[in-house]
Amino acid sequence: MKVLVVGSGGREHALCWAIAGSPLLTKLYCAPGNPGIAAVAECVAIGVLDIATLVGFAQDNAVDLVVPGPEAPLVAGITDAMEAVGIACCGPTRAAAQLEGSKTFSKEICDAASIPTALWERFDDAASARAFVNRRGVPIVVKADGLAAGKGVVVAATEQEAIAAIDAMMEQKRFGESGSTVVIEECLVGEEVSLFALCDGEDALLLGSAQDYKRVGDGDSGANTGGMGACSPVPGFPVKLEAACLELIIRPALAEMARRGMRFRGILFAGLMLTGEGAKLIEFNVRFGDPECQVLLARMQSDLLPALQAACDGELRDFDLRWNDQAAVAVVLAARGYPETPEYGSVIKGLDQAAAKPGVSVFHAGTEAGPDGAILAAGGRVLTICGVAPDIQQARDRAYAAVDAIVWPEGFCRRDIGVPRP
Ligand code: AMP
Ligand code: GLY
Repeated sequence: MKVLVVGSGGREHALCWAIAGSPLLTKLYCAPGNPGIAAVAECVAIGVLDIATLVGFAQDNAVDLVVPGPEAPLVAGITDAMEAVGIACCGPTRAAAQLEGSKTFSKEICDAASIPTALWERFDDAASARAFVNRRGVPIVVKADGLAAGKGVVVAATEQEAIAAIDAMMEQKRFGESGSTVVIEECLVGEEVSLFALCDGEDALLLGSAQDYKRVGDGDSGANTGGMGACSPVPGFPVKLEAACLELIIRPALAEMARRGMRFRGILFAGLMLTGEGAKLIEFNVRFGDPECQVLLARMQSDLLPALQAACDGELRDFDLRWNDQAAVAVVLAARGYPETPEYGSVIKGLDQAAAKPGVSVFHAGTEAGPDGAILAAGGRVLTICGVAPDIQQARDRAYAAVDAIVWPEGFCRRDIGVPRP
């Protein structure tokens, strides 16, 4: 099989790494990829939103399967465009990607399918949104309806914060049209976990769960980020509860999507809050998380590639995936200044020494190759260092031993990934 992975982050490096190990693979491309991905795939310089060029490339190179990593090309219709020329693409259509692309859409699906989630209301004008906040009080959560690069959610502890969020989204158009509609919802309290399933339109196969560390600083301090680390399995989220959430949240969503003629294929990522009243959905994403993907694939024993193909073919019903009984911890190394103003261009050394450590994988994200073969920082999140071992503590020790082998004074990471939370 010839496969094209779309994206350039640590998630896509992990996808390429897993797919490259498949005996079914004959050729692996990645667009645009990164220097780490170049070790396992042929990188082609096409941007993730340049869908017409991606389709042309896939046709010219007889690609059998396209695997998009990030949400943006899915919301922009990459699956529709590939399928229109007869190329399988393991992701939802543009219509089905609204599960992530529009908060009001996903909330309507939840209500229609009786999926437990925070109580919510939709607002198209700022005055009624402000009045609602005044009436309901705090804490309260304000969300831009559309995609906002992970920055469109404000968990407001004070009315002032909530009003400021409404003004920024709806009046100042901080996220453009994405914020012209907002969802305001009840604030859920509890432990957050991410649950992943591979879906074929009708059936869903559990890919396991992971916990993301969203804040930039130790002890969950500082700004929200795309994710500073992850671990899997999640302590306190047993396999039995995973299976229950599959029945309670994922399958009803698939059924409702199918009922509306928008069969969901690809990865469905349910962000959950384990509240006192049970698990509730915070949001759906229509792709793997980054860095959750890295820890999930590190634990996967089965060949990922035939599973992705079966999802496209609607044949997951009799499929089985195996996992090793190891734990995985991923630590993100970011460039100083991330998430606000990461500094680019510094030299990173010691990557080979880090990767040579037992039970360690080094995944590249925002890196670029320097003229003399050096690896330079070229993004906010730059590397994911993943440790695998029989338990979380040892996986963590392995990941941090590898982190400490990397010589990069301009980079930083959290030191508490995988440490039990108080
Ligand atoms: P994201 O959309 O991934 O940027 O999500 C932002 C984060 O906001 C989530 O991971 C939660 O921590 C938080 N969040 C979103 N909705 C709620 C809610 N209803 N109650 C409490 N926290 C929430
Ligand atoms: N790490 C969270 C996400 O990928 O959305």
